[in-house]
Amino acid sequence: MTAAALTVIDLVKDYGVDRRAHRAVDGVSVEIGEGEFLSLLGPSGCGKTTTLRCVAGLERPDEGRIELAGTEVYGRGGAVPTERRDIGMVFQSYAIWPHMTVFENAAFPLRVDGRRRSRSEVQNLVEEALAVVRLADLAGRSATQLSGGQQQRLALARALIRRPKLLLLDEPLSNLDAKLRGQMRAEIRDLQRKLGVSTLFVTHDQAEALSLSTRVAVMDQGRIVQRGTPREIYERPATRFVADFVGTANLVDAEVDGDGTLRTPAGSIRATCDGLKKGDRVTACFRPENVLINASKGLKGTVERVDFLGETLDCRVRLDGCAQRVTVRCHPADGVREGDAVFVEPIAERCAVLL
Ligand SMILES: Nc1ncnc2c1ncn2[C@@H]1O[C@H](COP(=O)(O)OP(=O)(O)OP(=O)(O)O)[C@@H](O)[C@H]1O
Ligand SMILES: [Mg+2]
Repeated sequence: MTAAALTVIDLVKDYGVDRRAHRAVDGVSVEIGEGEFLSLLGPSGCGKTTTLRCVAGLERPDEGRIELAGTEVYGRGGAVPTERRDIGMVFQSYAIWPHMTVFENAAFPLRVDGRRRSRSEVQNLVEEALAVVRLADLAGRSATQLSGGQQQRLALARALIRRPKLLLLDEPLSNLDAKLRGQMRAEIRDLQRKLGVSTLFVTHDQAEALSLSTRVAVMDQGRIVQRGTPREIYERPATRFVADFVGTANLVDAEVDGDGTLRTPAGSIRATCDGLKKGDRVTACFRPENVLINASKGLKGTVERVDFLGETLDCRVRLDGCAQRVTVRCHPADGVREGDAVFVEPIAERCAVLL
């Protein structure tokens, strides 16, 4: 069996803030298999960048162990310096050097890694890296004369030039406008698959994490709270936090009524309640797109607001008998209007139960 590209075990990192230790990373473990694309997804300040910087060797952990392709780079044996870790990294700000040309920026990692290379060898490697990100024509241009998307691609070329075993990407798309972000997302995915480079991607954007990753690890306050495939994370969130952070979730207080049925003050619904017994207090969790409206059964309520979004009609329904509200995504052709008394019925197989 080949070793995982990256193994992080029980990583801890404290920062001193006002003479008190603040635990930025609190026992994080992740493993990335050969060629895998893993996203660390979590809100601002949850410790994503710190985790990445520890893996890169730019930050010294307080505890834990880090292995690259089965070789320890941090642990009891000490720390291997950054330049000797077989890693390429794109930072949250691209960190393109403005006083250099595109060519010089891409070539930079080759100049500082202590290996001797002939001029033509450097030339070939840079040309190849720039071709991969479609910047070959701009090699002679000053880096300041690049658009945001081009700078992003240059940062990627620089990270890939030494053909690293592991690619670390820290919110590489966050400085781009929405349209370019969509394009670059597809480009990164295609490039990663083509090169087969194992990748750790950090983002607070759930759409990026779901669309790019083979697996996602959701992070909150320095810890990983759930890991799984994008589908598992979205369809089977383990906690309220994950349900709410990844997409829009309807969360309704309920009581198990036995036999796959949940009771709420607004009515009864069906859900998957394996391992639960009658009387257990739970939270029903279902996505706006997994609810039928106008059904003759389910949760009774009143349509409070209707938002026409072009492709969909998002309806806010206030449930009877409780102060809770749910969002239902309808087809624009559905004739739902504000003030309508309706039933909302989550699709049973797509209604999760949280404790
Ligand atoms: N150099 C530092 N000194 C002190 N505290 C720090 C330092 N760097 C980060 N922190 C704190 O550690 C925590 C985690 O920071 P980190 O940068 O890893 O978050 P993040 O998940 O990358 O957030 P964002 O999405 O905003 O980039 C935060 O509370 C932050 O304030
Ligand atoms: Mg960050």
